[in-house]
Amino acid sequence: MPRHFLSISDLSKKELESLFKRAAKLKAEKKSGRMRPSLRGKSIGLVFEKLSTRTRVSFEVAINDLGANSLYLNPNDLQLGRGETISDTSRILSSYLDGVILRTYEQERLEEFARSAGVPVINALTDLEHPTQIVSDLFTIKEMGLDPKNMKFAYIGDGNNVANSFMGAAAILGFRLSIATPNGYEPDLRALPAKESLGKADIEILNDPAKAAAGADVLYTDVWVSMGQEKDAAKRKKIFKPYQINGGLLSHAKKGAMVMHCLPAHRGEEITNEVADGPNSIIFEQAENKLHAGKAILEMFMKG
Ligand code: CP
Ligand code: NVA
Repeated sequence: MPRHFLSISDLSKKELESLFKRAAKLKAEKKSGRMRPSLRGKSIGLVFEKLSTRTRVSFEVAINDLGANSLYLNPNDLQLGRGETISDTSRILSSYLDGVILRTYEQERLEEFARSAGVPVINALTDLEHPTQIVSDLFTIKEMGLDPKNMKFAYIGDGNNVANSFMGAAAILGFRLSIATPNGYEPDLRALPAKESLGKADIEILNDPAKAAAGADVLYTDVWVSMGQEKDAAKRKKIFKPYQINGGLLSHAKKGAMVMHCLPAHRGEEITNEVADGPNSIIFEQAENKLHAGKAILEMFMKG
């Protein structure tokens, strides 16, 4: 059975730490033009049922840099788009490919694909989780020489896929995370390594954004309307208004606190231009690091 990366909870603390180290090495190699084709001869497919700029392009470049072949497979160009089942698609693709990177809706759909797959499957975002994003974001913190264990992170906004994987990572690595969401939009505990780990971890789930931001080293946010939720956009934009990361909310955090966003940003909604482009923002560093962390993930899961 191949090993899949479907949830942040599929990784141990040790494995996360080794991904951060490897990403740093791969980043240095890329910058100095000394890349090694560690996945030479492999073919890796990307099946994306939702749009993507960063995840798709960074994984495609990562695959090419590692000497493998990438195939972008738009579901509308596959028989999947005409009703072929996800499990048949998975079996067939596994007989040609050495790995699949899948972005889709329900986590169950990803799990169904993985169950029928004879090759490793990586979660490139589902409604429940975005684990590769969080690996890359925590690498961004680690490469600055910082230790998340000595920091307070605040996630402000929707308890969505990104928040869920962030919470899972906090439980695995043991860092302090305050999450502030409107009532009814809290994160989903299924992303935790085990239900009881919430109690053991230093995670608090609140409704007050200022309280979550108080004394934080990092403020993190994401869109209020995730892909697939477009019909609730008007309602969500109203409910989430007090959760905007702006100068006022930033003033509750530590002086010099960093602001993170997985992007794409809806500027003027969850984050102001002033903050997104201001001195506290590290959003573009995060985006770049998806390439380097993505390579470390590919090596961990697709090398065998
Ligand atoms: N952050 C992220 O996953 O962006 P994309 O949707 O552009 O891949
Ligand atoms: N929560 C967002 C993340 C996009 C990268 C979404 O699912 O659309």
